[in-house]
Amino acid sequence: MKSEEIARTWYDYFGARGHERVPSASLVSPDPSLLFTVAGMVPFIPYFLGAETPPYSRAVSVQKCIRTADIEEVGKTARHGTFFQMCGNFSFGDYFKEKAIPMAWELLTGSRDTDGSSPRGFGLDPDRLWVTVYQDDDEAYSIWRDDVGVPENRIQRFGPEDNYWNTGQPGPGGPCSEVYYDRGPAYGIEGGPAADETRYVEIWNLVFMQDRLSAVHSKSEFEVAGPLQSKSIDTGLGLERLAMVLQGVENMYETDQVRPVLDRAAELAGITYTSTEDPEDPNHSNDVRLRMIADHVRSALMLISDGVRPSNEGGGFILRRLIRRVILAMRLLGAEDSTFGSLISVSRDAMKGVYPEVEQRFDTILRVAEKEEQAFLRTLSAGTARLDSAVGSAKAQGGRLSGEDAFALHDTYGFPIDLTLEMAEEAGVDVDQDTFRELMAEQRQRARADAKGKKSGHANTEVYRELLRDVPTHFTGYTEHTTESRIRGLVVDGAEASSAGAGQEIEIVLDATPFYAEAGGQAPDTGRITGDGFILEVSDVQSPIKGLSVHRARVLEGEVPAGAEALGTIDVRRRLDAQKAHSATHLIHAALHDVLGPDAVQAGSFNKEGFLRFDFTHDEALSPGARQELEEITNLAVRDNFAVETKTMALDEAEAIGAMMLFGEKYGDQVRVVEMNGPWSRELCGGTHVSSTAEIGTVALMSEASVGSGNRRVEALVGLDAFKHFAAERTLVSQLTEMLKVPADQVPDRIASTLSKLREAERELERLRGEQLRAAAGQLADQAVDADGVSVVAHHAGSATGDDLRQLVMDLRQRFGSRAAVAAAAGESKGRPVVVIGTTEAAREEGLSAGDLVKVACGVLGGGGGGKPDLAQGGGQDASAIPAALDAVVAAVRARSA
Ligand code: SER
Repeated sequence: MKSEEIARTWYDYFGARGHERVPSASLVSPDPSLLFTVAGMVPFIPYFLGAETPPYSRAVSVQKCIRTADIEEVGKTARHGTFFQMCGNFSFGDYFKEKAIPMAWELLTGSRDTDGSSPRGFGLDPDRLWVTVYQDDDEAYSIWRDDVGVPENRIQRFGPEDNYWNTGQPGPGGPCSEVYYDRGPAYGIEGGPAADETRYVEIWNLVFMQDRLSAVHSKSEFEVAGPLQSKSIDTGLGLERLAMVLQGVENMYETDQVRPVLDRAAELAGITYTSTEDPEDPNHSNDVRLRMIADHVRSALMLISDGVRPSNEGGGFILRRLIRRVILAMRLLGAEDSTFGSLISVSRDAMKGVYPEVEQRFDTILRVAEKEEQAFLRTLSAGTARLDSAVGSAKAQGGRLSGEDAFALHDTYGFPIDLTLEMAEEAGVDVDQDTFRELMAEQRQRARADAKGKKSGHANTEVYRELLRDVPTHFTGYTEHTTESRIRGLVVDGAEASSAGAGQEIEIVLDATPFYAEAGGQAPDTGRITGDGFILEVSDVQSPIKGLSVHRARVLEGEVPAGAEALGTIDVRRRLDAQKAHSATHLIHAALHDVLGPDAVQAGSFNKEGFLRFDFTHDEALSPGARQELEEITNLAVRDNFAVETKTMALDEAEAIGAMMLFGEKYGDQVRVVEMNGPWSRELCGGTHVSSTAEIGTVALMSEASVGSGNRRVEALVGLDAFKHFAAERTLVSQLTEMLKVPADQVPDRIASTLSKLREAERELERLRGEQLRAAAGQLADQAVDADGVSVVAHHAGSATGDDLRQLVMDLRQRFGSRAAVAAAAGESKGRPVVVIGTTEAAREEGLSAGDLVKVACGVLGGGGGGKPDLAQGGGQDASAIPAALDAVVAAVRARSA
């Protein structure tokens, strides 16, 4: 059974049992507590928690997932993949264990005969299935034993480490029950999952969601804050694991969606895959690499397709790591050239049946992947040069490469330790791995301390959930700047408080508010909240959980009681300016599509009064022409004074009319669409906007630059700030016309011609100085003094650079030809003495070394210097000592034979 058919059978089985078919969400997690979607349940977290009301009570999905915690296991075991698909069925307060368990059994063991279009079940042999339950979950135990008929000797009980599931973050959790498939005695010992998880592979996990967790410390240590509003079901069947069983292959990397990449990698490296899992087998390390490559290439394909770009942080860093691991493994397998494009094309072909978008977006995917590969190949070759020299000196000093060197290669040059080890071994050099590991551990420690410091700013979300009480804050700010309301609650130092007094910094939640909470890149409003006897100044507004606006404020006067009436008033000037910038951001986005095409997708934005920043995916710098066009199209749209229209509609309707949405963003069923000039600019957006584009005034594009691989950023000034910028430039131009005495349009030509004259004059000056020096050299050579058979010139050149002096000394040396001679010239450069000394060959035969003589001079000058026997240079502190230093040189020449 192909993977595609497994997914279809899954959807059909649960679809026929009243489950809403929900398409896979993006790999970029819709839940802010997680980087990636790590399980099928992630898109449904708010439903389990009761923070949102689900539009259906049962759902079925096949969800794309990424997990990288076990990245080191990939390729070594049969079942660890960084990308995998999780087939899930979900109940939100509908059925619980009594139904979830028998359905799972029926689907796994049901006949593979087709019933209409899909098979009824997966046809697994019931005698090969084992199940596990949570230690004290007698209910699940008896459902398996009595309702399903699983013999007691194939039901095992485990503690929280194995049979309690949560996302690793505060949120929903519950005991679980897992189904294992016995691959047979060839794979390990008898005794069920308790004995061997290679022979008995987990294929399906049924989670009985019932707890609300306030903290998760480890798999088995977590804090339960209370029960969920209603008991729910979250199950996850690993599609790849079932495919491995149904396709009769050895591991997930040999299943139909992954194997083709493995084969291509082997072909490119010119080796044969032997499918061994025995670490003693000589082919094992190559096989592990091939399996890892096949897995990682697919993960990279799917991540890039979902809008992730390689970078040095968060999800971007994980993608970068996956790509680099592939390139490294390919190199260790012997492939020198770039191979990623070829591998990822094969992966596309294997995945496009289920995910047609990987084909539609493939141009971009390939560009992103190959660019990253090129950059890494450059890093590797720079690192290789460094490593060669480190290995060279290690060899000279006893054959051990220090941990510090290995760490510097890793930390500064991004050169992977695997490669360092491999290459050092080839050169017969040992690496001090213990020190390397210590340094890495220290670095991780520092990073963790950093991250902790950053995190501690956030209050516990529990208190906000309490305040939400299922009633979202009513936002009135689309139409009002002042709203009368009631104080729903106060938070002081992370805990709910009944009142607050003057001088306190607090958080305050109102039933209704005109304050815009920071979202969609738009800066939050500021302003005041007043009431009977109190005044608060609001400096920030955030929405820490969906639906709740939290104002950060300072009590300026009086005592604020929770529950009191209050009047919220925003700073209108600031808001109007922020919304000009926000509307201008939409114009820039649409204009970018006109200039660069639809691939220039929004990757982030920020706008506040007078300023906007917009990040988008694009691989190269905009040409000056493209920048100008972008600014012009944007300002034409301002001048055309398009009405800004906002509509609320169903998400699929918005999708159908092509409204721009962001990757990884989770939208509700009803969405707000903002339009300017009809379809030209049509975006899903909850922000506030001008009512027609002329209000924006002017947009001045200030800069365009790279922000990491594949992403560009434009920044612009908006409205009065743009005008002020132009006014300042105009003042500058009039200063220049005044100074250069030409009309403004001739300023650039005049500056260019002035600069070229200046350069010419400098060249002339240099030429004259050279001539002067040569003339001086002739005279100086004639005036050389004789120091017991050696001609010595000791010249004080006044103000001169080291270069000038070197020229002079070399010229003199040449003039002396085969005579024994020493030329010393000293001068003052930037207030400090410089001395240069040269010796002819005959002088050196007399035992005179320029290096030694310079040391003599520098001793007098109060500094240091050195060089070779034929030419040396030095300096010092005290320029007034130059004559004495030169005398000392002459004396040293005289004293040579003494
Ligand atoms: N959330 C559970 C898991 O990921 C079941 O879907 O295993």
